[in-house]
Amino acid sequence: MRSILYSIFLISTFSIVLSCGGKQKENSTIKIGFSQAMSTDDWRQQMNRSIRVEASLRPEVDLQIHDAHNNIEKQIRDIEDFIARKVDVIIVSPIQSKPLTAIVEKSIREGIPVLVVDRKIEGDNYTAYLGADNIEVGRTAAKYIVSNRSGSGKIIEITGAAGSSPAYERSLGFNQVINANTGVRVVSTIAGDWEKRSVRKPLLTLLKSHPDVEYIFAHNDRMALSAWECAHELGIEDKIKFIGVDALNTPNGGIELVKNGTLQATILYPTGGNEALRLAQKIHNKEPIAKNNILNTILVDHLNAEIIENQMDKVDQQQEVIEGQQHAIKVQEQDYASQNNLLRLLSLFLIIILSLALYSIYSTISISKKKRQLEEINRTVISQKDKIEQMAELTRQNHEAKLNFFTGLSHEFKTPITLIINYVESLMDNEKIKGTRLVDEVKLIYNNSNRLLRLINQLLDFRKVEDRKFSLRVSPTDICQFSREIMNNFTGEATRRGIDFTLGCAADGQELFIDRNLMDKVYFNLLSNAFKFTPDNGRIGIIISDAGEIINLHFKDSGIGIPEEEAPMVFRPFFRASNNSKNSSGIGLHLSKEFVELHKGTIEVASSGGTEFIIKLRKGRDHFTEDEVMAEYDSEFRVAEFVIGSPDYDIAEHLPSAGHEKYSLLVIEDNTDLVTFLKNKLSSEYDVASSDGSDAIEKALEIIPDIIICDVNLSGKDGFEVSKQLKKDLRTSHIPIIILTALGNEESMLRGLQSGIDQYLTKPFSLPILKQSLGNLLYNREKLRYYYTNNLYKVEPETKFGFPEQEFITRLNDIIFQNMDNSDFSVEELAEKLKVSRVQLYRKVKAILGMSISDHINNIRLEKAGELLKDKTLTIAEVAYSVGFSSPNYFSTAFKSKFGISPKEYKGRP
Ligand code: FRU
Repeated sequence: MRSILYSIFLISTFSIVLSCGGKQKENSTIKIGFSQAMSTDDWRQQMNRSIRVEASLRPEVDLQIHDAHNNIEKQIRDIEDFIARKVDVIIVSPIQSKPLTAIVEKSIREGIPVLVVDRKIEGDNYTAYLGADNIEVGRTAAKYIVSNRSGSGKIIEITGAAGSSPAYERSLGFNQVINANTGVRVVSTIAGDWEKRSVRKPLLTLLKSHPDVEYIFAHNDRMALSAWECAHELGIEDKIKFIGVDALNTPNGGIELVKNGTLQATILYPTGGNEALRLAQKIHNKEPIAKNNILNTILVDHLNAEIIENQMDKVDQQQEVIEGQQHAIKVQEQDYASQNNLLRLLSLFLIIILSLALYSIYSTISISKKKRQLEEINRTVISQKDKIEQMAELTRQNHEAKLNFFTGLSHEFKTPITLIINYVESLMDNEKIKGTRLVDEVKLIYNNSNRLLRLINQLLDFRKVEDRKFSLRVSPTDICQFSREIMNNFTGEATRRGIDFTLGCAADGQELFIDRNLMDKVYFNLLSNAFKFTPDNGRIGIIISDAGEIINLHFKDSGIGIPEEEAPMVFRPFFRASNNSKNSSGIGLHLSKEFVELHKGTIEVASSGGTEFIIKLRKGRDHFTEDEVMAEYDSEFRVAEFVIGSPDYDIAEHLPSAGHEKYSLLVIEDNTDLVTFLKNKLSSEYDVASSDGSDAIEKALEIIPDIIICDVNLSGKDGFEVSKQLKKDLRTSHIPIIILTALGNEESMLRGLQSGIDQYLTKPFSLPILKQSLGNLLYNREKLRYYYTNNLYKVEPETKFGFPEQEFITRLNDIIFQNMDNSDFSVEELAEKLKVSRVQLYRKVKAILGMSISDHINNIRLEKAGELLKDKTLTIAEVAYSVGFSSPNYFSTAFKSKFGISPKEYKGRP
């Protein structure tokens, strides 16, 4: 649409540019139509030429000449044409008078003025007439003959064409004068037609009968020359005098003929071309003009021919100059016109360029507007995208939070379950119930607890599968043997419910590389399902068949089966078949499929009168990576993952032994069962105190335990915070802390380690590992203590090893050294200076150095005394006082008890 409008704009602009000036010319132009009788002779050509020159001097004049070729009908048509074209003025030089009268009158009627030139029409119904007085022309010729007669006085007259006014009038005037004079007479008249050819024949005849003719008067010079030629033919040209009309200054024109003696004389008959044009313009301009405008004539003979010729030459020259100038003007006009066109073209181009520029500006503006709109849309889209991403992130976080919740919950479940299992195991070993009915009930509790634990483990496995955290550890396994072992867990139930539970093993002894822990879960899941959905007295079987490269494991039951259309969905997480009315998590089969696929195997389901799962596992180990393959099954590989119930390990030899003073242990845990469990399991080796977390810091400061076990999820402050605070506090910074938590992810571990804890154990934990960890940490503490005790003076003032304890010891020792000779310096004063309580100081020093603070002060004093005693100039009493002993006797006793010898003996040593 815009492009169409744009085209219209361009075209109209173009038209406006091209039409500029054209209209202007049309408005002021005078259209003049000139109907010329003929243009064959020089007189007519001169007439045309002069009328054109005159018109060319007037730019407003638009002159058009129609040549009738001496044809009357043609001349009438030419005039008709001018009328039709509504020219402003018509100039007509009629061929004959009568035939042209009507058309001239018509033109007048139509309102177009007509200027008649040279020859006349009949009547006076024309606008104006211009021409010489032809009667006078005849008279002038006659008068000349009369005045110059010298011979016979016989005259032959050759007239112009009959019907044309000059012929009539010239003859009239001529005869008037001749007839009025005696001695001259017209002996014969030849009816010419203005042209040479009309003369010869009649004149030759005539001359023969009138050889003594003195004058021949022809109505124009052309016919006069023809007469001379006839006379010449007869050899009498010198005897006759010839007179013509027109007096043209052209080759063979009247002037030349007079000059060369051919003609005696000629009468100048002006064409009136210039005057006709001027007159026509006046008529158009409605200026007052005379109706009859008579041009002057003059007789030319040998007396004035030269002069007239000169004058005419000058006129001709001027005419030529004018014509030259006109030509130059025309050329300039053409130049101007072409330049004008060029200018218009340039203007047009300029307009186009301007239009294009405007258009491009418009386009740029609209493009930038569009761009802005697009940018706006883009911004909206981006913000929507961001919102979607935020929502997606929120959803992901929600999902993650839910998963974390379930995972955390599962971990939390595991603690009490493991406790139950642990107690139940103890119970089963209890002599008091052995052999009683209680054993079966306890076993029931044990089995169900284990089942619950498996379910929880499934949930945790699901999370691990989601996070792709399972790493495969395959080892060569006799698949039939493996199947049998797992089946043993179900034989009791099978027997009780009368289920025919069988194993068909066509591949006995066949070893497959499997991850037993994972495949164990697959078996348990498939068999649990089979037992769940198979009615009492039904059938459940495992059939193992060898299919070349592959071993097929069929788990078949005679249970309720799975609706066929639902079969492809059974491995989806949380799927529950429509015919399943039992409780089901819906993740067991999903996990089984994941585990089988980790083995690069497949699992399919078929349902026909029960359910059948077919697992296909590849033989060999080529489909596993090197890291995945273990040469032998390591039953303890997952010990950190599993818990209590693992075989006890030998506790390291450095564990505190019985008989030794017990170490104090603070358990910060809000699960009272777990606290009880830990107390039960550890109280033989430790003095166990506990806090549910709410008073953890206070308790720790109060008892300054030797070691702390701390849970993470506590009410109020979390375990990391508690640990951080204890590790920052000089009073408790030396206490090793074990974090015990259900949070097994890397981030939590890192947080724990950042808070300065010494060990990180995840729940469910292995009791032996916990015990070992407690032992190790205390042993390390002992080692440190030994170091401090034996390097009392080597402890550097700077915290070279980064231990806060080192800093503490340095500060402690500094204060003691500063008060070395002060016998009143007390432990209270020291505690105050260190900004700790007396008890805390006591416990801290005891923990780090393994001795009481007063023993430590004494030790330093005695060590110093030993040094001073080496300086033989000091007395024992002086040494005692300088190291803060108020009694030299007591000093001696204390010294002897530390070094085994008295100060005196010590001093006396070389
Ligand atoms: C030209 C002419 C002239 C003559 C005039 C009369 O055609 O024959 O020689 O004077 O016409 O109309």
